[in-house]
Amino acid sequence: MKRGFFITIEGGEGAGKSIQVEILASHLREEGYPIVVTREPGGTRIGEQIRAITHNQENVDMESTTEAYLMAAARAQHVAQIIEPAIASGKIVLCDRYVDSSIAYQGYGRKLGADTIAGLNALAINGAKPDLTLLLSVTPEVGNKRRTKSAKTKDRLDLQQHDFYSRVHDGYLALAKKDPNRYVVIDAEKSIVQVAQTIWDEVHTRLPARNGKTKT
Ligand code: TMP
Repeated sequence: MKRGFFITIEGGEGAGKSIQVEILASHLREEGYPIVVTREPGGTRIGEQIRAITHNQENVDMESTTEAYLMAAARAQHVAQIIEPAIASGKIVLCDRYVDSSIAYQGYGRKLGADTIAGLNALAINGAKPDLTLLLSVTPEVGNKRRTKSAKTKDRLDLQQHDFYSRVHDGYLALAKKDPNRYVVIDAEKSIVQVAQTIWDEVHTRLPARNGKTKT
């Protein structure tokens, strides 16, 4: 059976990932692609339990290293139970955050180092590398404004200082620069409709053609 296609969506707070994941997923479904939509941390029963720990506001004393291992542990479960089986069965996996979130947030944001975090995650991802990563890029200032306005309940990870989000943003841009074949950087300060159109253009040209159907 032909392998599927693995797409990840990344970005800092307030980049508008959730709505874009929804739009892209419905577009892919309309086009008849078999897809699995998932997220990190989470995506599995055990992963969601780990997410409850990483996001719990009571856990303000969590060490950065503990946070990094928890993210990687949730990912190990996710890759084994959801991502790898779906790709192996020919599906498109659309994942809201993946290992690059760990490199940006724990590696750059928490200053644990990009290589350290990549190394720590190698066992968890077991070679499952995204075919395409869409980086929704907004400056930390714009992200922060959107976040403040958002109705979302604030969790532990929302309570960081401005310079943390600046490092995360810089980290993402460094990752994109290092891997231009996999990464597409999208200006997410544009309107939701414009961003969705850019995403569709980028995704559509890269997708393997479906059986018996040609791309339009
Ligand atoms: P979100 O699902 O609302 O984007 O929240 C996820 C939060 O978890 C966000 O603050 C980024 C953070 N995170 C990490 O710090 N490291 C990771 O590896 C992942 C997947 C998320």
